[in-house]
Amino acid sequence: MTKTKIAVITGATSGIGKVIAHELVMCGYSLIVLGRSEKKMAALKSDLSKKNVHASIKTISCDLSSLKSILEACEQVGAHSAQIDLLILNAGLWNFEFKETIDEIEETLQVNLLAPVVMFQRLIANMPKGEGAKVIFTSSALHQGTINFSDLEFRKKFSGFQAYRQSKLGILLLTRWLAKQEAFEGLSYYCVHPGMVNTELGRSAGWFSRSIFKLFGKSPSKGAQTHLYLIDRSAEELTSGEYYANRRVTRTTSYSYDMVVAEQLWHAINALTVDK
Ligand SMILES: NC(=O)c1ccc[n+]([C@@H]2O[C@H](COP(=O)([O-])OP(=O)(O)OC[C@H]3O[C@@H](n4cnc5c(N)ncnc54)[C@H](OP(=O)(O)O)[C@@H]3O)[C@@H](O)[C@H]2O)c1
Repeated sequence: MTKTKIAVITGATSGIGKVIAHELVMCGYSLIVLGRSEKKMAALKSDLSKKNVHASIKTISCDLSSLKSILEACEQVGAHSAQIDLLILNAGLWNFEFKETIDEIEETLQVNLLAPVVMFQRLIANMPKGEGAKVIFTSSALHQGTINFSDLEFRKKFSGFQAYRQSKLGILLLTRWLAKQEAFEGLSYYCVHPGMVNTELGRSAGWFSRSIFKLFGKSPSKGAQTHLYLIDRSAEELTSGEYYANRRVTRTTSYSYDMVVAEQLWHAINALTVDK
């Protein structure tokens, strides 16, 4: 008998992640959903159960703007499931003004970059090595530019665009770096640009930016296609450490291939969690 595969997903209560969650349940995955809103998770669970009455869906409360919440959620995941076959770290936000989390870290940096790094490190022990388990991060084509190491949180001069751009560049750099590390061998790592998608991402933007998403964004179903492609294909058919857009490996900026920068970022991100 084939064993049921287990997927853990963040950002499934809205947009692209919601479509991915639906597809996973339809494909027979057992799902663990991590989200900050109990109400949205209950609604999602109810929808998913209607799609597949045999589906196993566990929801776990997890606010990525709190390290305590992230660590507690990861512990609960571990207690619920000894094995994770698919880890989809998709949740993200785009702030248009400076906001600090309860951990006193700029919110975009924490939710989009630090949270996936911490979750990956906490959950990797539950991922079987050499059996095709995958980690999929959500990046963006807006990953241009460099990492602002002298002021990672843009405290001196905040720009929501710069903070978002940097967080997505960080995810891309670390996807490549993780795939090259001996310590993290046995899994495969991918990051995705979903395209411009009409979701709730621009919720805190002004009406103009929101209208751009609405007018020019594709549907969440279309936006989820590259994630679904990566989920569907075996690790042998894919390239670990790569950035995928429109269902294929896509060339990115030369800076985003710099593994010295990636390693520096890995340490800088981990240093932020010390004493928290
Ligand atoms: N839309 C685009 O054009 C586009 C383009 C490139 C990349 N992306 C990336 O795609 C990913 C999914 O975004 P989306 O477009 O689907 O946007 P979305 O509809 O706003 O969905 C974002 C998801 O992240 C969750 N989230 C945000 N902050 C959180 C927190 N503190 N704790 C826990 N969960 C949190 C949200 O939870 P709630 O439901 O509770 O708010 C929601 O489930 C993001 O990483 C985004 O940066 C999007």
